[in-house]
Formats: sequence, C-alpha cells, structure tokens
Amino acid sequence: MLATSNQEVEVQLVEVTKRFGDVTAVESVSFTVHKGEFFSLLGPSGCGKTTTLRLIGGFEFPDTGEVYLNGRPMGRIPPNRRETNMVFQRLALFPHYSVFENVAFGLRMKRVPEAEIRRRVTTVLEMVQMSGFETRRITELSGGQQQRVALARALVNNPRVLLLDEPLSSLDLKLRLQMQEELKRLQRDLGTTFIYVTHDQGEALAMSDRIGIMNNGRLLQVGSPMEIYEHPSTPFVASFIGDTNLIQGSVDFVDEEVTAITASGLHLLVKRAGWETPGDQVYVCIRPERILMNSDRETGNVLHGKIQERLFKGHFVQYRIHVGPFTLQTTIPYGGSNRIFGMGEEVTISWDPHQAVLLQADEEGRNFDGYSPSRRDERAERTASTR
Ligand SMILES: Nc1ncnc2c1ncn2[C@@H]1O[C@H](COP(=O)(O)OP(=O)(O)OP(=O)(O)O)[C@@H](O)[C@H]1O
Ligand SMILES: [Mg+2]
Repeated sequence: MLATSNQEVEVQLVEVTKRFGDVTAVESVSFTVHKGEFFSLLGPSGCGKTTTLRLIGGFEFPDTGEVYLNGRPMGRIPPNRRETNMVFQRLALFPHYSVFENVAFGLRMKRVPEAEIRRRVTTVLEMVQMSGFETRRITELSGGQQQRVALARALVNNPRVLLLDEPLSSLDLKLRLQMQEELKRLQRDLGTTFIYVTHDQGEALAMSDRIGIMNNGRLLQVGSPMEIYEHPSTPFVASFIGDTNLIQGSVDFVDEEVTAITASGLHLLVKRAGWETPGDQVYVCIRPERILMNSDRETGNVLHGKIQERLFKGHFVQYRIHVGPFTLQTTIPYGGSNRIFGMGEEVTISWDPHQAVLLQADEEGRNFDGYSPSRRDERAERTASTR
C-alpha cells in the first residue's frame, strides 16, 4: 500500500487522469479514503465528480495513474468484479417492477438462492425504512421513497464501498435534510465506506468525515469540514465552502505574527501565513460571522461602513455593508441582547486578525461565477440605481 497512515486504507487514487477527447475530466487526482469513512467530493457542475466516482467503480478506466481498492491496483477490472456499488446520479430503477424485484435484481443475476434473496431484501428494506412497500411499483412511490429503493438496491450486495452520485439532488429541501440524517445514521450503523458526490456544500459539511473539493478536474483540498472552513487553501475553496468575504489587496509588510495588507486604500492586518512577501497580490478571507458590529470588544481591524442591505434569516440577520470600495457581509445572531441595525446606518465593524486567513491570488477558479470577491462593481450599481 502506498499510503502511510495508521487508519486502514480502503480506496486510494494515485495521480489519476481521465480525458474525453479534448476535455480533461479528471487531472492528476490523488486521495485516500479510510475504511468506514464518509468521504465527499464537492465541486461545481462539470468539475469531474461523477467521472472520479466512475473511475473508482470501474465504469471508466484511467488514462494514467491508478485506483487501488483495499490495497489492490484495479487496472481494467470491470465494475462487477470490484467490491464497490454505485447509486447513480439519475436513478436507474425499473419503473414497472415492484420494490422487491428492483432490490432483488442484482442478487437474481448472481443466482443467489431464493430464500437468501428474500432474507436479504427484507433486511435491507427495513434498513431504509421501506418495509411494507415490497409489492408497490416504482411509479407509485414518492421521490424520497424511490431514493430509498435505489439505496437498498446498492446496499443489498453488501459492498465494501458505496459510491453515491448526488443521491438526494432531486428531493425538496425538507426531505433532503431528513434523508441526509437517515443516510448518515445508516452509514454509521453499517460501518460501510461511503464516497458521496454532491455540489451542495451544506450537505457535504453536515454529513462528511472529510471532504475533497474539486474544480476544473483538479482536487484542490482535502480535509475535515472544520479544517476546510477554518483553513481554506485557495480563494475558490473559501468561497465554495460557506459564505465568505474576499478582500483583494497586496502585502505591505510581514511581521512576526501578523501581516499588513493594503486593499484599495484600506489597511488591514491578518494572521501571518508564512509564504507571503511584500508586494504579493493576495486575498484576505474573513467569514461573515467573525465580523463584529459596533462592539465594545473591537480589536485589530476597525473600519467604518454603512448598511446597504439587511436580510432577516430567522435565527440570524445578514447585513451587506459598504466599507470603502468593498461590500462586506456580516451575520449577527437574532435575539438576545443583539440589536438590529437600520438601513443606511453608519456602523463600526471590526475583526481580530487571527480570525482572517491570507490566501494567494492565483488564477484557479477565476471563471467560476460562485467565486465572488467582495469588491463593489460601482458602475453596475450606478446603472442599476438609475433604472
Ligand atoms: N462520456 C463523456 N464524454 C465526453 N465528455 C465527458 C463524458 N463524461 C464527462 N465528460 C466531461 O467531463 C467533464 C466532467 O464531467 P463530470 O460528469 O465528471 O462532472 P460532474 O462534476 O459530475 O458534474 P455535475 O455536477 O454536472 O454532475 C465535463 O466537462 C463533462 O462534459
Ligand atoms: Mg455528476
């Protein structure tokens, strides 16, 4: 095994590349998934998530690099000879068959004895809370129930690794949240390794032991949800996981603990990263909930701004504040002793330099529209206001 870790490695990709004609769907991707881990691949549409999953399942083979399952190189071993099962992005159920027959299908193909089929299908339907639906047709089920059947059909084979490609994306929000909890519980109870593909960052944060963030066929960062939230490695990752303010500037000077940044006339302090030198083009990443408003605990960065927008979100209030040439977002918990600020109100905002992260302004991720630096486009605003 190539990985060096005391946890048992179940899946390993080593510099895997997959091209379709001119398109490089997956580019030199390497990562390791441990036994019993809930690992998610997260990224925007077309970034290579499904292709990565299909490479693990044996539905595609790498052009270069290798996929290892349980320490064995997979080469060109087909899906039915790998200890993986996949729940596909588009459900692949037989609409006119019963729930029972859909789940039993794979076992029948393998000529498993009838009594064992009955036992295994019954057990797995219980697991996904679909007991009593055995004779129903797929067309007579709700979207959530169909998802459960698709899951049961993959689980009935007792795979070592379950590959799930956006299994909840067709469900409405309430059902999706409910199924997230059920899936997580199921994974914990079974101890099966899950590799879960999603473009929903909330889903990935809530469910995963670790997340791999992809963009343009590349894997940008792997870490626990909290590690990635606290220490994003690039501006793209910072803006894709959670809300963030990205302030573009350049390095003024580097001190022992903090680095000074000039950003369009504003002077900011940020925790020293270690790689930066004066003159570097950088982003300061500060999460909305780390910014204090009119606080008597002002520290480090203290700036003046004007409230441009206020959105009541239930348990918190979100503000957009014009600060010099930037629009910064803040979120303040609703209720308790927190006051509500008014539109147009002048406020002082502040944050501790240690709450912000310094990031290199590299090219990667630039053309992704979810990647939005906090700089105000004043021309666009003027046009909008004169309309
Ligand atoms: N069979 C194929 N032939 C040609 N191009 C393909 C094929 N499969 C995928 N691609 C291309 O490879 C890239 C990655 O596709 P992939 O399906 O892995 O993305 P994804 O991250 O799963 O996206 P989505 O979130 O939309 O499902 C895309 O540019 C896609 O158009
Ligand atoms: Mg996909």
